[in-house]
Amino acid sequence: MKNILVTGGLGFIGSHTVVELCDQGYNPVIVDNLSNSKIEVHDRIDRIASKSVSFEEGDLRDKAFTERVFDKFKFEGVIHFAASKAVGESVEKPLLYYENNLTSLVNILEQAKRHETSNFIFSSSCTVYGQPDRLPVDESFPKLPAESPYGNTKQIGEEIIQDFCKANSAFKAISLRYFNPVGAHESAMIGELPLGVPANLVPFITQTAAGIRSQLSIFGGDYNTPDGTCIRDYIHVVDLAKAHVLALEYSSRMNLNYDFFNVGTGKGCSVLDVIKAFESASGEKLNYKIVDRRPGDIEKIYADTNKVNQLLGWKAEKGLNEMMKSAWEWQKKLAID
Ligand code: NAD
Ligand code: WQD
Repeated sequence: MKNILVTGGLGFIGSHTVVELCDQGYNPVIVDNLSNSKIEVHDRIDRIASKSVSFEEGDLRDKAFTERVFDKFKFEGVIHFAASKAVGESVEKPLLYYENNLTSLVNILEQAKRHETSNFIFSSSCTVYGQPDRLPVDESFPKLPAESPYGNTKQIGEEIIQDFCKANSAFKAISLRYFNPVGAHESAMIGELPLGVPANLVPFITQTAAGIRSQLSIFGGDYNTPDGTCIRDYIHVVDLAKAHVLALEYSSRMNLNYDFFNVGTGKGCSVLDVIKAFESASGEKLNYKIVDRRPGDIEKIYADTNKVNQLLGWKAEKGLNEMMKSAWEWQKKLAID
């Protein structure tokens, strides 16, 4: 059974990916410092996967800890989710973001080299494209200057990996550029756990419907889009998790030693589309109002998914209705727990 290191494996996307890895017969080993996750998620993963998944608690900025993890297990692949991800916080605390997101990456690559571990999958983001001049955006589009230190860590992270691949021809790595991951596992046992007031749309919607927030503010109704609200490519987290398993498999057979892929549905949805889908999936009426634009928001983006469809053999299967339904089931469960 193949051991796969999953850094940040107790987080939102990591936890769903660990479940998919178990389903596909891999042996994931989770490393997490619990900075943005709860230890209870480990037990829930075990219950969904009906197995005891290895977990090492620690911080990947700590070189000695990272070395101990690599010494303890022989890994055949690494999926590196662990990072700080709050765009607004990154503007306030840039050094925290550069330190956490980049030091961890360098430490892991050093250990991967020492142990000759290959098949490295990196969590990148559509944020690397900024506002593209035409849509859908494909992988040949240029990366635009990052809008935030967080976005910059993804651009620099990709470059670090690319340089590392150039210097180590036997090492294979893939960056996955996620669009907007939402939704939760069908069991409603794992999902997104935002700390404090959510910055992202879907947790804000579900918390408003659950009565935790009084009203959703829609940031801007005067964009150049059909209904005036911003357009994004929302992707179900379970579909995204599956793309990681396929990326691991692809990396071991690809000819290049570094490649990168968009992971989205290819469909652009406006904020009002998302609200409509939520109301229909949940049967709840949402209290919202349109307010000023949020600084830094781009108007519209959605993915060209041809490359990921063809090379990884991956395609998003779940639509907006399933995304909203599962996000709502998860929110209701959170209110009970
Ligand atoms: P998350 O915060 O839910 O998960 C990240 C996990 O990493 C958390 O459990 C946290 O405790 C852990 N972690 C952070 N720093 C660590 C460190 N130094 N050592 C050990 N563990 C550490 O985030 P997520 O939404 O699951 O995102 C996963 C990855 O995907 C991140 O790299 C993020 O930047 C990227 N990404 C996320 C989105 C999104 O909208 N959620 C979009 C694009 C890219
Ligand atoms: C989606 C849409 C908002 C909240 C961010 C990061 C990006 C990536 C994904 C990691 C936008 C609108 C939101 C609210 C609203 N993360 N909105 N009211 O901004 O596309 O991307 O997360 O890499 O890097 O920037 O996602 O969920 O914040 O916003 O109207 O209360 O919802 O304006 O149009 P975004 P989001």
